[in-house]
Amino acid sequence: MDEIKGLILSGGSGTRLRPITHTYAKQLVPVANKPVLFYGIEALVEAGVTDIGIIIAPHTGDEVREAVGDGSAFGAKITYIEQDKPAGLAHAVLTAEEFLGDSPFVMYLGDNLLRDGVPGLVERFREETLDAMILLTRVDDPSSFGVAELEGEKVVRLVEKPKDPPSDMALVGVYLFSPLILDAARRLEPSDRGELEITEAIQVLIDEGRDVRSEVVAGWWKDTGQLSDMLEANRLVLDDIGSRLDGEIDDSRVEGRVIIEAGARVRNSLVRGPAVIGRDAVVEDAYIGPYTSIGDGVKVLNSEIEHSILLAGSSVENLGARIEASLLGREVKVTRSDSLPRTMRLLVGDRAEIEIV
Ligand code: TTP
Repeated sequence: MDEIKGLILSGGSGTRLRPITHTYAKQLVPVANKPVLFYGIEALVEAGVTDIGIIIAPHTGDEVREAVGDGSAFGAKITYIEQDKPAGLAHAVLTAEEFLGDSPFVMYLGDNLLRDGVPGLVERFREETLDAMILLTRVDDPSSFGVAELEGEKVVRLVEKPKDPPSDMALVGVYLFSPLILDAARRLEPSDRGELEITEAIQVLIDEGRDVRSEVVAGWWKDTGQLSDMLEANRLVLDDIGSRLDGEIDDSRVEGRVIIEAGARVRNSLVRGPAVIGRDAVVEDAYIGPYTSIGDGVKVLNSEIEHSILLAGSSVENLGARIEASLLGREVKVTRSDSLPRTMRLLVGDRAEIEIV
């Protein structure tokens, strides 16, 4: 069998994470201060897949290239493939045709996170001669996912967001394909939402009598395509961190598992982990609560933040109230000039300035 390649999808339109995605690739939003996309690359490399193509969108592609580089930092070789429009997951596969050649491949959605990665799955696909393999997880609300109908491990039908779900097994954003998927994708017509759907391409394989198998993921899985899931992913990853205090800490209390990077300064504050504070960040007269990721160069002065992600260069000053369940883009400024609400929920794009009066 040809060596298994990797195909990571890091294009798309990211409408559910607007306004962050107006100016930024959602796959670069950091979870515990590391871009979501990096977890996917690392998962593939760990599974022995190092020849990796990354699908990029025209408006965010350069940022992805800059962040990931040639892949050597990950022990991988990266090929960038520009998809001119976000016309669906099967369209992305067709766009990558030249890169994929005749190789089997793992397709990994660049905004997905799997706690335990994919090593077992890739191993199994290498050993058995399957035409496709999908990853599944049990969910409470199958009607908002792609759902599989199974006979044992064999997949007999896939349905997108079913009103009457045939099972509670939802598709996770990792798939293994033989090159047959390219033929199947070529035969598709755009769906009602105008996309070439990967579920329909897999259904073509099933209908042709091909061997499409499934495996249930062991650890947690998160699709970070919207704010609540991004924050939940941040919580799950922070739950597993250790402690490392490399920054300067004065007159402060640091409780639980906390990472404070070199160059960061924490003064007269309480940091209650799990939390991470990036390089050159300044935290003064502040409370940083559990499940918070403070990016590089962020300033938190005289304010309280919990269960949130602040991207590099943002500042929160003199709020006198607590921010929670929020995601602030790069170089966002939040200040307060007068008293008012005790808690806020924000989804704010890059370079916004907010003044609470
Ligand atoms: P989705 O989150 O399903 O789609 P999207 O990014 O367009 O977001 P939204 O629904 O909020 O508008 O995409 C899953 C992953 O696949 C994500 O990392 C983006 C990527 N993708 C592509 O690379 N090309 C595409 O054509 C599509 C639809 C998605």
